[in-house]
Amino acid sequence: MANLKSSRCYFLLAFQFLVLIQTKVLCYQYKVGDLDAWGIPTSANPQVYTYWSKYHTLKIGDSLLFLYPPSQDSLIQVTEQSYTSCNLTDPVLYMNNGNSLFNITAYGDFYFTSGEKGHCEKNQKLHISVLSATAPAYSPSNGPSAFSPSYPTVFGSIPQPPSSALSASSSHSLSIPVFMASLTGFLVCALVGGIM
Ligand SMILES: *[C@@H]1O[C@H](CO)[C@@H](O)[C@H](O)[C@H]1NC(C)=O
Ligand SMILES: *[C@@H]1O[C@H](CO)[C@@H](O)[C@H](O)[C@H]1NC(C)=O
Repeated sequence: MANLKSSRCYFLLAFQFLVLIQTKVLCYQYKVGDLDAWGIPTSANPQVYTYWSKYHTLKIGDSLLFLYPPSQDSLIQVTEQSYTSCNLTDPVLYMNNGNSLFNITAYGDFYFTSGEKGHCEKNQKLHISVLSATAPAYSPSNGPSAFSPSYPTVFGSIPQPPSSALSASSSHSLSIPVFMASLTGFLVCALVGGIM
């Protein structure tokens, strides 16, 4: 009985490490729309950005590359409301260097369009939803931060993850929570295996 329980537990643990490795290694840089240029969609494919986001699963650590002639176009991140109404005033983020990399560092919905007048109305707009890769492990309403406060009090000092995970680089921001989840899993497994 004890063996069965703990082996199932270790299986889950192995799965968690798999997730950890995937989130660390498999980060992609996507050319938005699979196109070489961010621009007004052609009449042949007016919904190119809508379809593109529908068929791509984006996650934290991935990035979106928008390429365009800087003299002719730009990229802005906007709120959902501004996205819907094509309101270009007060964007969240404005980039116009022709080679704009948007790094995904958080879960949620992100809305982009062109900062040029009239382009949004012509469907040069992109909405992406970033879901947690480890969503089932988190309670949906609280998110990953909800369970972090308990670690220091429950387990005392925590062994440091490898330095790459510790670096301030936002693209690795998921690694620390996942590492901690794995660590907790390991400790729980050890506990269950020991007691049962
Ligand atoms: C556009 O957005 C700005 C800033 O959020 C807001 O002040 C303005 O009222 C909006 N304009 C329209 C037409 O909704
Ligand atoms: C995204 O990251 C790259 C390098 O990793 C950086 O050059 C770029 O400025 C970042 N983009 C934003 C919008 O911060």
